[in-house]
This record gives sequence, structure tokens and C-alpha cells, in this order.
Amino acid sequence: MRDFDLFLLDHAACEKKASAMAMGMVAHYPDRKQLVRAMIDLALEELEHFSQVYHLIEIRNLQLGADEKDPYINQLLKQARHPSDLYFLDRLLLAGIIEARGCQRFHCVAQNLRDEKLKQFYKQLATVEAKHHHIFIQLAQTYFNADEVETRLTELLHIEADIVSRLPIRAAVH
Ligand SMILES: [Fe+2]
Ligand SMILES: [Fe+2]
Repeated sequence: MRDFDLFLLDHAACEKKASAMAMGMVAHYPDRKQLVRAMIDLALEELEHFSQVYHLIEIRNLQLGADEKDPYINQLLKQARHPSDLYFLDRLLLAGIIEARGCQRFHCVAQNLRDEKLKQFYKQLATVEAKHHHIFIQLAQTYFNADEVETRLTELLHIEADIVSRLPIRAAVH
């Protein structure tokens, strides 16, 4: 919160990557109709968020930075297993977890902002992001059986909690 400008730049990068990631799913799994529709809608929504955050950046006369690897996302995506069906399940669950964590972070930010307009913006964002994690978990349940989804989700949640606990505190979403 002490360097909110820096946080905003990181947040913008996250929204941009979320939109690109959703379109990446469309490119990888063009034959899965439910996924394609859900990911097109998600890509649009994340792009809209990027546009909104970029508006805040413009108002503050800041400038977007070059894309940097996010250490949280990087470590998390390494957990995806490699035979292609397991990879598909893991990518869906990891995406769902990333959405849930983002939602939690926006809640924290909203709670700690003093500016009423910004507070409302982050509150509303947290509400929207809360729906996103369901999209991925539901897709996982569409393409895999419930027990398999549940077991792997529990494993990945433990791994994610461990990764998060080791990350340094910085002015960023993660
Ligand atoms: Fe978003
Ligand atoms: Fe999202």
C-alpha cells in the first residue's frame, strides 16, 4: 500500500496476462466447445479489467513497464504434470487457484484503501474475480471426474499455500 503506483503497474500486467492466458487456452484446446466459449468471455472480461486499470495508470501519468515473469505464477505453473490429459486438468485447476488468490488480494487492497473511489473499484473487482475461479473448477469437473478433480485440487492448494508463504512482500498482486 505504500507504493500504490507500483502495485497498479503490476496489477495491470496481471489483468493483461489473464486475458492472454484465456486466449492461450482457446488456442490449445480449440475442440472443447464449453472451454472455448468460457475462455472467450473471460478474455474479454480480463481485457476490460486491463483497460480499467490502465485508465488509473493514465490518470496518474504512469507508464506500463515491460512484461516481467511473475515469480508466483512461474512457480505455480511448474506444478502442471506432463502427460497431456493431466496437464489439461492441472492447467484448469491452477488457473482457478490463481483467480481465487487474485480475488483475495483485491479484497485486502479494497479493505486498506482510503480513497473511496478506488476502494469501490477494488471491491467490485474482487466480486467479479470470485466468479472466475468457479469457471475453471466447473470446466475441470466437465472434463474430469469429481474425485480426480477434488484430490488434485487439494494437492495443488497445499502447494500454492507453500509457494505464497515463501514469496517476499512487495508492491504487487502476488
Ligand atoms: Fe481480472
Ligand atoms: Fe480473473
